[in-house]
Amino acid sequence: YRIAVFASGTGSNFQALLDAQRKGSLQAEIVLLVSDKPNAPVVERARNAGIEVFLFQPKDYNQREDYEREILSQLEARGVDLIVLAGYMRLLTSVLVAPYSGRMINIHPSLLPAFAGKNAIGQALEYGVKVTGVTVHFVDGGMDTGPVIAQTALDIQPGEEEAALTERIHAAEQQLYPAVVSWFAQGRIILEGRQVTVLPLR
Ligand code: GRF
Repeated sequence: YRIAVFASGTGSNFQALLDAQRKGSLQAEIVLLVSDKPNAPVVERARNAGIEVFLFQPKDYNQREDYEREILSQLEARGVDLIVLAGYMRLLTSVLVAPYSGRMINIHPSLLPAFAGKNAIGQALEYGVKVTGVTVHFVDGGMDTGPVIAQTALDIQPGEEEAALTERIHAAEQQLYPAVVSWFAQGRIILEGRQVTVLPLR
């Protein structure tokens, strides 16, 4: 499997995927990083690892569809069969969502459908829930709305600060995301409507 990661931030998930690839546990190869933030740490990580980077500036385009068409041709040129969103922070149009339907996944730092959108960890603390976590889901064009593949739940400790919870959430993400990518590469993720089944290892 050939993967493109879309990311615009710190890149801790990108790094976890790369580390899994190097250990041989990802069962897939990251062939491209797509980013709209030239100065993001994730871009530096990709360069250090010798992974190609496609950078674009949304303000150079009239509309999202225009830069997405350019991204699509980059993906097609490299035979990318799975898009992995890891802190990309932009909604996608059907230019990318349609051709990669069932082949594009995202990770979100809450138990969806609770706390979609930005600052999910802060939203959960503000609401006062006692359990939160991490969700990996297929992308369908809505904001964090696609079919759920896997979730990890975490108890929020009494009086837990946002920084401490964020650290625990990120650790859970870095466990879960490479695992889900390897399940996908093994053909173990079955999508029927909104229902996702993860087949056991044979
Ligand atoms: C993660 O918390 C992920 O859930 C969210 O964006 C963040 C990206 O973090 N979608 P990083 O850049 O992988 O460190």
